Amino acid sequence: MFSHLTKLPADPILGLSALFKADPNPEKVDLGVGVYKTADGRTPILGAVEQAFVRLSKEEGSKVYIAPTGWPGFTEACAELVFGADLRSDLGGQLGAIQTPGGCGALRLAFELIALSKPETTVWVSTPTWANHVPTLAAAGLTHSPYAYYDHGSASVDVDAMLNSLEGAAAGDVVLLHACCHNPTGADLSMSDWKRVAELLQARKLIPFLDMAYQGFAAGLSEDALAVRQIFSSQPEALLSYSCSKNFGLYRERTGALFVKGEQKDAKEALVTNLAQLARANYSMPPAHGAALATTVLEDDELRASWIDELGAMRSRVNGLRRSLAEAFKKEGCGDRFSGVARQTGMFSLLSLTPEQVAVVQKDKSIYFPANGRINVAGLTDENIPYVAKAIASVV
Ligand SMILES: Cc1ncc(COP(=O)(O)O)c(C=O)c1O
Repeated sequence: MFSHLTKLPADPILGLSALFKADPNPEKVDLGVGVYKTADGRTPILGAVEQAFVRLSKEEGSKVYIAPTGWPGFTEACAELVFGADLRSDLGGQLGAIQTPGGCGALRLAFELIALSKPETTVWVSTPTWANHVPTLAAAGLTHSPYAYYDHGSASVDVDAMLNSLEGAAAGDVVLLHACCHNPTGADLSMSDWKRVAELLQARKLIPFLDMAYQGFAAGLSEDALAVRQIFSSQPEALLSYSCSKNFGLYRERTGALFVKGEQKDAKEALVTNLAQLARANYSMPPAHGAALATTVLEDDELRASWIDELGAMRSRVNGLRRSLAEAFKKEGCGDRFSGVARQTGMFSLLSLTPEQVAVVQKDKSIYFPANGRINVAGLTDENIPYVAKAIASVV
């Protein structure tokens, strides 16, 4: 049965982590895997989450199964965070929600729901997009088409080219959009761009699917949710996959949610029961721990305030590192070639480098990031920025 299977190559990003660990160079820098890091290279448990853990360990009292829809109160707490109280209330029974194993679980379940409803759907993905989007939609049996997105010259979104490519989509196709902090480019649409996108979606009867894995990392919790709010208030149907991995630091707890807006006022029952059945056939019910922690934080005024502060500190640190790196590149004589780094948002920026240039920086300077030039800005520190800027400047 299995003898024809051959060993697969390591995942390009996870493989880099192993190479980084094995590198004896004391000056080595890891800009690969997309996790937040402190100045001393740690990915800590947030204080609010730790306090929620202490509380939960006293109160939880049982490890009996939870419902396939998740930990009580979790999806509602996330819905309020992302949609805001007013839109949440307006969406009423049109909104179906289910807790999922991380943002990846939400993506997979959403693609399965789309395949169940209309198997011939094409999903339109940005060029480039996060490396796991296409494998996940393909695993659910869907096909994809690329739409233009990133312009390397201006290090920003080419919205005219984007809209132009989406003109080729057929009614009922799904358009996968990054709600904020685009991965891998760090380049987001402006609110006036989002308006143009919303108009096109509506005119061509396309279904938006927003992927949100970094709420709070660009400009703030509400600011980062503006695009989601605009799309969910203007479009008859929409999907949102939501991850708590980064903003709650709950990576390994696999904590996320899927929200689907249906056209009918009572769409919720059909959406949730179908999602629950898909979940049952995949993994039955999601893990409870991370969702229980996030819910405890969000439902308690003190813990929520403390979490918002901690998230703000993570955001400021990353945005500060962006500005410092852009300045350091200028000092190294790169002109405006990398100045987009300072304007971009979230954990990532896509540097315009060839795979050969990336390989030289890795081999000669022990700076690790994937061959497409995506750097995890959170892996920088005030100390290593001059070293990184000099190394990259030397190959361009
Ligand atoms: C764009 C995007 N979507 C979804 C995810 C999924 O996150 P997770 O499954 O870890 O919650 C990530 C994580 O890196 C991401 O960058």
